[in-house]
Amino acid sequence: MQDSMASLSVSPAAAGGSCFAHVQQAPEDPILGITVAFNKDPSPVKVNLGVGAYRTEDGKPLLLNVVRQAELHLVSDESRNKEYLGITGIVHFNKLSAQLILGSDSPAIAENRVVTAQCLSGTGSLRVGGEFLGRHYSGQKIIYVPSPTWGNHLKIFPLAGLEARTYRYYDPRTKGLDYEGMLEDLRAAPNGSILLLHACAHNPTGVDPSQEQWEGIRRVVREEKQFLPFFDCAYQGFASGSLDNDAWAVRRFVGDGGEVFVAQSYAKNMGLYAERVGALSIIVKEPAVATRVESQLKLVIRPMYSTPPTHGASIVTLILSSKKWFEEWKEELKAMADRIRSMRHELFNALKERQTPGNWEHILNQIGMFTFTGLSKEQVEYMRREDHIYMTLDGRISMAGLNSRTVPQVADAIHRAVVKFS
Ligand SMILES: Cc1ncc(COP(=O)(O)O)c(C=O)c1O
Repeated sequence: MQDSMASLSVSPAAAGGSCFAHVQQAPEDPILGITVAFNKDPSPVKVNLGVGAYRTEDGKPLLLNVVRQAELHLVSDESRNKEYLGITGIVHFNKLSAQLILGSDSPAIAENRVVTAQCLSGTGSLRVGGEFLGRHYSGQKIIYVPSPTWGNHLKIFPLAGLEARTYRYYDPRTKGLDYEGMLEDLRAAPNGSILLLHACAHNPTGVDPSQEQWEGIRRVVREEKQFLPFFDCAYQGFASGSLDNDAWAVRRFVGDGGEVFVAQSYAKNMGLYAERVGALSIIVKEPAVATRVESQLKLVIRPMYSTPPTHGASIVTLILSSKKWFEEWKEELKAMADRIRSMRHELFNALKERQTPGNWEHILNQIGMFTFTGLSKEQVEYMRREDHIYMTLDGRISMAGLNSRTVPQVADAIHRAVVKFS
């Protein structure tokens, strides 16, 4: 039987060629590709401001002390094993994660209206949430994402069966929020669409709505359009240094009793990038709906990766459940946020000293890990070529990649690029 099938269709492999000879070389990921180019650059003075990962004042990755302590505890605990977790992960982790983002006194949690699944960091949480919406959302299967947004949003949601459209968000003239444009676009969108919102520290622009503006957005979402808000929370604690302040918008939307999706990541705020720890929470209106949603969520996850990994989520569970470690974590988190803020001041002052043409106040006003500098593509390419300074082509720089030693070098380079191309 096999012989007769083989004779019917001769594969290229059987004919001596590869079945994949037609596969085209794919472009590098625009963000991860910067590190690839950076690593290839032999210059001793090169600076990488492209990656969204925290660096110390010495330019090194940071393993939080509290994470190290939790890991030591885990490896010395002989009662632990490596059995499979359930499909939605560690139950205690899920409860603590929901409390972290929604508040420990959240009525939605008390009323059993929250379903949480441990997922593979922020990306995995967005993907699982997207897949669930693609299958089960009764509204418009259209998701509106800000323009610009983290590039992966535009790839994740269409794969999950949602049409991705953009709404105005950033105004290049003011280097701030285009609030009027945003509301205008939201009002023009079909009723019942899904609305992707960055919970805090918007990536790539570093521009967040004020509390008053959040209120205006919420009114459009709830009262005018019946949108489903989907918060992407990749930087809780990184924006203001306070976990509670950075959860303000999410809590406001959940507090009005409406339905909300939230994707959480522990990559940045606990420095657990490679451990891939995150959570998807779905807040609905009734406990009975929550139970059914959870059952269907399991059917989404099971054929994707079956069950999540245990190590990173165990670290998070230990830290969130120990009062002492939780306090220590908050201190370490605040120290990271403070260092980023001090880099904003240093870079701003350095450009002022050099009398670099333009208004650089936005470096101080933007928030979180990134500054959307306003540098053009040709200026970015010039800085890479001439000064070995790497950033995304849209002019986004990671403030966490700067330190007091590199600020003068980066300011000199920005100054030269601005003078050359203005
Ligand atoms: C806005 C935003 N969402 C989600 C993520 C996902 O990160 P991770 O999957 O590493 O948690 C990132 C990471 O850069 C991000 O900036």
